[in-house]
Amino acid sequence: GTGQFFVGGNWKCNGTKESITKLISDLNSAKMESDVDVVVAPPFIYIDQVKSSLTDRIEISAQNSWVSKGGAFTGEISVEQLKDIGCKWVILGHSERRHVIGEDNQFIGKKAGYALSQGVGVIACIGELLEEREAGKTFDVCYQQLKAYADAVPSWDNIVIAYEPVWAIGTGVVATPAQAQEVHVAVRDWLKNNVSAEVASKTRIIYGGSVNGGNCAELAKQKDIDGFLVGGASLKGPEFATIVNSVT
Ligand code: G3H
Repeated sequence: GTGQFFVGGNWKCNGTKESITKLISDLNSAKMESDVDVVVAPPFIYIDQVKSSLTDRIEISAQNSWVSKGGAFTGEISVEQLKDIGCKWVILGHSERRHVIGEDNQFIGKKAGYALSQGVGVIACIGELLEEREAGKTFDVCYQQLKAYADAVPSWDNIVIAYEPVWAIGTGVVATPAQAQEVHVAVRDWLKNNVSAEVASKTRIIYGGSVNGGNCAELAKQKDIDGFLVGGASLKGPEFATIVNSVT
């Protein structure tokens, strides 16, 4: 792998004050290896609760951010506000925002550029639909998504790329270690050819899509898998800790 292992828990639109209190307490008491970067992404309205009671060992991410400076944008949350409340990261380009909400490559790229310009790290998601994979377009789709980020970001210093094949998200159908590794290598090659050899070797490429306590260890052994973005299994503290510790 490249750099320090990175594991993010994307809670998506789940949780209540009560369930999140329990999850925080489980995370606070879980044993997590010290040489892994750990981040959780609660829904916006619970970030303050999480920030005030979760161990500082775990950093906080938002699940989305507005594309430019805050102001008259009803219903949006600005990067400035995320910083104010203690978020170090934001997940952008998640497949649910692309395919359910309808965000396109260019808009997502702009969001990434703005967040980075304000000092917030970006977990930049990419990934193909099942029909795209079946049509042999997996690499093309990922390359287009990567290009939109590359065209808009000031630097790659604060970016983690999350490869999440859409057919693996929330389905229980995890990519095989070989399938994930193949795309991670392609992503790294793309960075080498289109950004720089240094960025290609330094940027962490994490895998997401039905990662759980049972399949994480095999995936973590792959040379180009530098961590995970975990959805469903991140709602269970002990299982999330197992995934965090899977690299060792
Ligand atoms: O951001 C996380 C991914 O969408 C994976 O979700 O682990 O529930 O499949 P999942």
